[in-house]
Amino acid sequence: MTRICIPIVAETIDNFIKDIKKAEILSDLIELRIDYIKDFKIDKLEKLIKNCTKDFIITCRPKNNGGKFEGNEKERISILEKAIDLECPFIDLEIETENKTILNLINKKQKTKIILSYHDFKKTNSLKKLKIKYDEMNSYFPDFLKIVTYANSINDNFNIFSLLNEKSNLISFCMGIRGHISRILTAKYGSYISYVCLEEGKESADGQISAKYIEDVYNFSSINKETKVLGVLGSVAENSKSKFMHNANFKKKKLNFIYIPFKVRKEELKELIKNFKIFEFRGGAVTIPHKEDIMQYFNNIDNTAKIIGATNTFVNDNSIFSGHNTDYYGAEHALKEITKLKDKKILVIGAGGAARSLCYVLNKEKSNFTIINRTYEKAKLLADEFNGSCSKFKELKKEINNNDIIINTTSVGMNPNNNECIIEEKIFPKNKIIMDMVYNPIETVLIKLANKNNCTIITGDRMLAYQAIGQFKLWTGVDPYFDLMQKALLEHLDE
Ligand code: ATR
Repeated sequence: MTRICIPIVAETIDNFIKDIKKAEILSDLIELRIDYIKDFKIDKLEKLIKNCTKDFIITCRPKNNGGKFEGNEKERISILEKAIDLECPFIDLEIETENKTILNLINKKQKTKIILSYHDFKKTNSLKKLKIKYDEMNSYFPDFLKIVTYANSINDNFNIFSLLNEKSNLISFCMGIRGHISRILTAKYGSYISYVCLEEGKESADGQISAKYIEDVYNFSSINKETKVLGVLGSVAENSKSKFMHNANFKKKKLNFIYIPFKVRKEELKELIKNFKIFEFRGGAVTIPHKEDIMQYFNNIDNTAKIIGATNTFVNDNSIFSGHNTDYYGAEHALKEITKLKDKKILVIGAGGAARSLCYVLNKEKSNFTIINRTYEKAKLLADEFNGSCSKFKELKKEINNNDIIINTTSVGMNPNNNECIIEEKIFPKNKIIMDMVYNPIETVLIKLANKNNCTIITGDRMLAYQAIGQFKLWTGVDPYFDLMQKALLEHLDE
């Protein structure tokens, strides 16, 4: 069973003790990062550890190992020796420590368990090299081995999963934002400890997730060997909001699934899908900018996704990968809960990927629609493909007045450009239906102006929530609670 550990990183003894008390409520054990305490004196150690009511690790990391200890090596080792004398449950000892010192400490450890640690702050080595490192460290016979590396690519995490699969008494994960998945999946692959921070701003390493977040968002305590993994694959997947909707439903429905962000570059996609196959991950979602590129790696593409030319969902059934598109379903239901599509005149602003899913729906519903786009040629191509009309961007005012429903599919108004709006206030229409596909922020300038002008609004979160229903069903065979999806999404929209 993976134990949750919170490192304490306060700089004064008083704050350190306060954080110990807070951290113990949220964790199985804590790590006392003695190196963070300014001017720490060894005679303070006994008093300090009296504040611990659960298991704890004494760590005094030197600067050349990414720590903050200001004293010399002799002082550092004497703190660790003192921890052993005081029968502290664990000490963390860096493999870079002098050979003789490691042997000495291991010989005299008595009740204290030794975590022999290795950190690579720049990269993750190949599995072969990691195994050599493990064996080299294990020749000291420590109680536990800690191997922590830096993920430069999402695929680095899989070296760590393989290492955890093969070796015992191991604590292992990747640092950095691309290593997030390894911190979450420590429990699936049996890392003895998972390190999380007490709260944002109190991280002791790059990429650490807070104790509350990892539990609230990823249901960390229910992850185990059997947990089926789903991922959202995108260049900024960490910003995707769908994790809130899906994980809340897995919890409520008692389904042993987890949905996590895979921050992946285009050139890493092929290997990532191969890893999904090897590690038997269940599938996932695809977001910007991979919805089209990823299709070449799937065995089957469903008909709708083929026509739209993009997939936002994939499923791995016994190593057969199928690509699907549920974006259109999202657009269709977000519109239909407010309005009929027949006998209405619809203006689509933009002609990119988001517009394609929408135009597929409008064509399917035989709607009367016009596409207007900054680059006219793209509007023309899309209109020809999906039986719509098109118009030049300079005709925007006229088209707005001509149509009943106006839909923004461009990224204008999206965070961080929150103050932008595709329709200027001076030409803003009254009493129309206005839909914005931008959901971050939910109250875009377009939506604010629509409210001001007595229009009926459809905010971007509606489409996002509806497309997630289709995804959930494809992965699990079960319908999610839609109310819960909406609630989870709205709670986290501003993050
Ligand atoms: P997505 O997949 O999210 O739809 P995309 O394929 O890059 O993203 O499409 C973005 C759409 O927003 C395009 O229609 C783009 O217009 P161009 O085809 O002229 O590039 C439109 N868009 C983006 N920024 C815009 C802006 N500032 N003003 C008008 N249109 C904009």
